[in-house]
Formats: sequence, C-alpha cells, structure tokens
Amino acid sequence: MCRHHPAWFVVVLALILPLACGAGGDQSTGDKLVVKPYEARDFSRLKGMQGFSDHALDQHFTLYQGYVRNTNLLLEELTQMAREGKTATPAYAELKRRLGWEWNGMRLHELYFDNLGGKEPLPKDSLLMKKIEANFGAYEAWQADFRATGAMRGIGWVVLFEDQHTGRLVNAWINEHDLGHLAGATPLLIMDVFEHAVLPDYGLKRGEYINAFCENINWAAVQARLRKEGK
Ligand SMILES: [Fe+2]
Repeated sequence: MCRHHPAWFVVVLALILPLACGAGGDQSTGDKLVVKPYEARDFSRLKGMQGFSDHALDQHFTLYQGYVRNTNLLLEELTQMAREGKTATPAYAELKRRLGWEWNGMRLHELYFDNLGGKEPLPKDSLLMKKIEANFGAYEAWQADFRATGAMRGIGWVVLFEDQHTGRLVNAWINEHDLGHLAGATPLLIMDVFEHAVLPDYGLKRGEYINAFCENINWAAVQARLRKEGK
C-alpha cells in the first residue's frame, strides 16, 4: 500500500480504519446515545369517571408509573451490561426476559387509560361498527364474547385486536402482560382485568367492573387505532 499511495493518505487511513471497524467503538458509541428515559403520561382527565372511584384510579396511575420506571431501569441496565460485555450472563438473560413484561405492563395501561373516559356509544354507521358486524354478526355478539373473555378466571387483559394482514377482528386474552399477544395485530380496545383494576371498587364482582368499563369506553380513541384503508 505504501508503495502506491502518498504518505499523508496512509496516515489518514490509519486514523480512520479503527473507527470504521469499530475498534474502541464502545466508548464513542456510548457517548452518542441520545435515548432519554420515557416519561409516564398523565391520565388525570379520567378522575370523576362514573363507576371508577378517584381512589382506585390514583392507585392505578401509581402502578402504571411503576411500570414506566422499571422499563426505563431495565433498558438502562441492559444497555450498560451490553457495553460491559456481560451479555452471556444469566443476569442479562433474565433481565432481557423481564423487559417484555414491564414494557407491556406500561404500554397496555396507556392503551387502557386512553380508551376510557368516553360518554357516547359506538355510532351505528361507523367503520368500526361495520367491521364488528362483519366479524361477529352483531355488536351484541361481539360484546358478549368480549365480556365472556373478561370473565375468565385469571389475571390479564382482554383485547379486541385487528389483524393488520387481513383486517380480521379477534377478541383475545393476554395472560399477565406478555403472553397471548397476536403477532401482526393491533390492539383496538383494551380492558384490564387484573385484580388491582377490579378489587378496589368492586371486590370480587368482576361482572360489575366490566359493566362500568363498557359504559366508559372512548370509542373515538378506539376507532383512531383502526388500520388505514388500503394499507
Ligand atoms: Fe392495571
């Protein structure tokens, strides 16, 4: 190489090559990280909602903030461990598994709070109503199935999903936060059926909690999650 290039070129190449090949990259990559911790959202607009006491909502908001905090902590810890070359450790593996649980606990709560606070029923001539009727036969049949899913024993989430591939609507159960998600499907309507969502106001009467949920659905928020036609 030296015989075919001037000396200055060789010097520049010697300076650039280690960077291009990633030598010493941990330091420079780390310095360039610009990902900021995620900030918990404010859902206090829901206070005063009929069927949900402010006390229960406040407890629920605090719980949600814990998921945000833990998600940030996990992402920070995993990044640090990767920088330190600790990815082949049991600790890294367990934290990596934990991330899906905390992340989904965070995001599912946001979707849940966002689809609450409505006062109007789903308009009969809306696109979502037409899709529900096409997939379930009737709105009442869809709601009966959604409610039945929520009445299942166990803790988790009831989700009306829309498959992004076919547009099909499916009521599904997510166990805790991380098992049962339908890949490629978008959550349209989310109902929390963890005990912390039900017990404060309704004790063991989950059916009454589901009634309250159904009477406060923000259908405008749900419809905004529908896939765009032609997609
Ligand atoms: Fe919850």
